[in-house]
Formats: sequence, structure tokens, C-alpha cells
Amino acid sequence: MTAEAIATIESGAPSAPKHVAIIMDGNGRWAAKNGVSRSKGHRKGADAVREAIEGAINCGVSYLTLYAFSSENWNRPPEEVSDLMGLLRMYLKKEVRTLSKEGVKLRVIGQRNALSRDIKDMIETAEDRTKNNSRLTLVIALSYGSRDEIVNAVKTVAQSVLTGEQSLDTIDEMSVERSLFTHGIPDPDLIIRTSGEQRLSNFLLWQAAYAEFLFTPVLWPDFTSQTFAEAIEDYLSRDRRFGARP
Ligand code: FPP
Repeated sequence: MTAEAIATIESGAPSAPKHVAIIMDGNGRWAAKNGVSRSKGHRKGADAVREAIEGAINCGVSYLTLYAFSSENWNRPPEEVSDLMGLLRMYLKKEVRTLSKEGVKLRVIGQRNALSRDIKDMIETAEDRTKNNSRLTLVIALSYGSRDEIVNAVKTVAQSVLTGEQSLDTIDEMSVERSLFTHGIPDPDLIIRTSGEQRLSNFLLWQAAYAEFLFTPVLWPDFTSQTFAEAIEDYLSRDRRFGARP
């Protein structure tokens, strides 16, 4: 258990979550409901990302992780994948300046090799430009799959045993943690999923061990900083014990 988890139990009162992660779901249903194309739904979804960032900053959250594109999303029709990649390009091009001004550090997790060269370059530039910011870390999960992340971590750890860097006996949770894409990022305290679906969909499976979950019927494009604030209020009413006794 982390020192923060122990402090939370001892104080009896939950503090504001340090890390909130969101499964942004419902762009397609929002589009159908509003009689517009899926592409327009995703564009509105990209606008809601700004709302989530503002919500996180207003609520004093330090890490915000957004599930923008899963490893399974590559199986969507090519025009939709291309739409989503186009949106991402636009986002990286247009938002980095605003993020910088707001003191937001950007970090992207996932299988970068699957992304096109220009997107990889834009990500590197954006991460570099924002690396000294400390108000909020915005983590975008892109071409991300949690099982894939864990398999990668297992390979890294196995390799370190093969090369004699460590022995089998010294493998512990920290050795795995160090090899995950999320290395150095605290576990999420709260995971929100929009659109009424109640699944994790291969998102942060290892990291979610003690997370609280909030499922809201709000479709992602309708998500606002107010929805974010309400989620935090709900979280604050919960009793987190991390498996310990009250
Ligand atoms: C789920 O809606 C959403 C996605 C697969 C992509 C999320 C992407 C965005 C919010 C926009 C781009 C993000 C950034 C960071 C610029 P869905 O299409 O699965 O909706 P449905 O289940 O209602 O069909």
C-alpha cells in the first residue's frame, strides 16, 4: 500500500483524487442522437477534452489520463480510424500552445510504433515543449491496450533476469510497475466511464487495483467541467480502505 493510501485511511477523510482517468465513450451514440455523422461526434468529443482538462485543473487534480484510442480501435473502419488520427493531428497542432500556457505537461502512453511517423514526431515535440510544466499532467492513452502493456512489462522483466540484472527472487510489484507505460505516474484514484457502459475495456488493468469507479450516462461529447466536478464530489463521499479494516 502506498504512503498516500495509508494517509487516506488514517485521516478518515478522502482527499481530492490525485489521478483521474477517463474512458471517453459515446461519441457515436451522441452523433446518432443528434442526427449528425460519427465524424462530427468525434469532433465534439475532442472539444470535450478541453472541458475535462479545465475540470481537472479547477479541482486540483494532478494527473488526468484520457483513453483516446485503444489497440482494438485499429479494427474500426479505415475511414473512422483516419478521422480519429486526423483529429489527433489537429489536437496536437492546435492545443499544445494552450497546454503550455496552462502549465500542463503532456505524456502519451501506448504502442507508438503503430502510429504514423508524423504523429510520432508531433507527440515528441509536444512532450518536449511541455516537459517542465507541473500544474497538471495530461496522459493520453493512444494505441493503448493494458494486456499488451503488461506483456511488454513481463518481457522487460524477463530480459533483466536473463541478463543477470536481477534475480527471480527480487522481482516484485515495483519491477513490473517500472516497466509499464505508466511508469512514474501514480495509480488512478478514480476511473470515470461515460455513456452508461460499465466495463474497463482493456484500460489500466494493473493500475486500477484500488481505483474507485464512476459510470455516468452522459455521452462523452456532452461532458463538461461541471460533470467532472460532480464526479469528484461523488468520489469524495466514498470510503476508501485499500483492503484494510476501518
Ligand atoms: C468512443 O466513442 C470514443 C473513441 C473511440 C475515441 C475517443 C476520441 C475522442 C474523444 C476525440 C479525440 C481525442 C483527442 C485526445 C483529440 P465511440 O465511437 O465508441 O462511441 P459509441 O460507443 O457511442 O459508438
